[in-house]
Amino acid sequence: MRATEVLSAHHDELRALLTRLGGLPADRVDERRQVLDHLVDELSMHEQLEDEIFYPSVTAASPRVAVAHAEHRYLEDQVAVVLRTGPRRAGFDAEVRVLHQAVEHHAGQEEREMFAEVDAKLDHDVLEQMGARISSRLEELRASRTTKLRLRVKRAVLRGTPGGAPGR
Ligand SMILES: [Fe+2]
Ligand SMILES: [Fe+2]
Repeated sequence: MRATEVLSAHHDELRALLTRLGGLPADRVDERRQVLDHLVDELSMHEQLEDEIFYPSVTAASPRVAVAHAEHRYLEDQVAVVLRTGPRRAGFDAEVRVLHQAVEHHAGQEEREMFAEVDAKLDHDVLEQMGARISSRLEELRASRTTKLRLRVKRAVLRGTPGGAPGR
């Protein structure tokens, strides 16, 4: 698969998690927290793959890379808002919707504009090789204990419970 296909497929996983999270009723707090944690981790890994591998390789092919970096920072801010709000609070659903819209806006624009430009300008073999690299890096990150720990600490810090106190 081309890098753009690998990243688009991962966008679909993020979309599915956001839809699932948005559909969970307020009384299923544990499930909401589980899906949210999974989503936050997958989104962090997605941004890492793009920031470390994809964006640096396609800067020349698409002027959208600079904007994309800024949008990642905005997504991180909204992730922090959702985590701090927590699944027990009334405002949670609204904040998840804001995050869903922000992810959709960013991912949709990548697919329609940046990925289209990159597919048109970069060599097919280069894109296939980059796709393989991104896929294997994603599997590596998902399997890594260090990454799991780093993401857990990151979530705790964003939630405002860095000492590991129970989340809200
Ligand atoms: Fe992105
Ligand atoms: Fe993306």
